[in-house]
Amino acid sequence: MGQSLILPGPESTESLAMALTAALPADAGGWTILLLGELGAGKSTFARAILRSLGHEGLVPSPTYTLVEPYTLPGYSVYHIDLYRVTSADELEFLGWSDLQDGLKLVEWPERVPRLLTLADIQIELRYAGEGRAADLKGLSERGSKVLAGVDWPA
Ligand SMILES: Nc1ncnc2c1ncn2[C@@H]1O[C@H](COP(=O)(O)OP(=O)(O)OP(=O)(O)O)[C@@H](O)[C@H]1O
Ligand SMILES: [Mg+2]
Repeated sequence: MGQSLILPGPESTESLAMALTAALPADAGGWTILLLGELGAGKSTFARAILRSLGHEGLVPSPTYTLVEPYTLPGYSVYHIDLYRVTSADELEFLGWSDLQDGLKLVEWPERVPRLLTLADIQIELRYAGEGRAADLKGLSERGSKVLAGVDWPA
């Protein structure tokens, strides 16, 4: 079971991310959100909007080369992760996955490490749709499904 939305422009991607953030628990440390979709689908746009919603005001550099960009925010830590360059599932250990368990993990290109599907709470798949995008959201854990059920979906 999941939810599909049409996202005509970048603002829609941001609105969806904000609506999802509003539905997360007060402490989403320990949660994992997967952002799937091909190059340019809007994964970083989505992650950036979550970070802004949680109070981050500065830049959001791409983690493509660093793999992980950490953020210390008022509520909890957020780790923005990009696995595009990862070629082996072992690199999850390499990037110190076990040290990131206190924070909310936003993972771009989780397709690189299929095992992540079993460790995550929510999956958001972004795809090209005409000049805009579409999103399919799915709960992967019980708590993730509950949060999705409580999202006030943007029109
Ligand atoms: N709903 C949308 N409709 C049209 N354009 C969008 C939408 N959402 C985001 N974009 C635009 O798509 C472009 C690529 O976005 P973004 O960098 O977030 O993609 P990405 O999935 O992170 O790409 P990569 O795989 O390279 O990391 C940006 O110019 C962004 O403004
Ligand atoms: Mg990106």
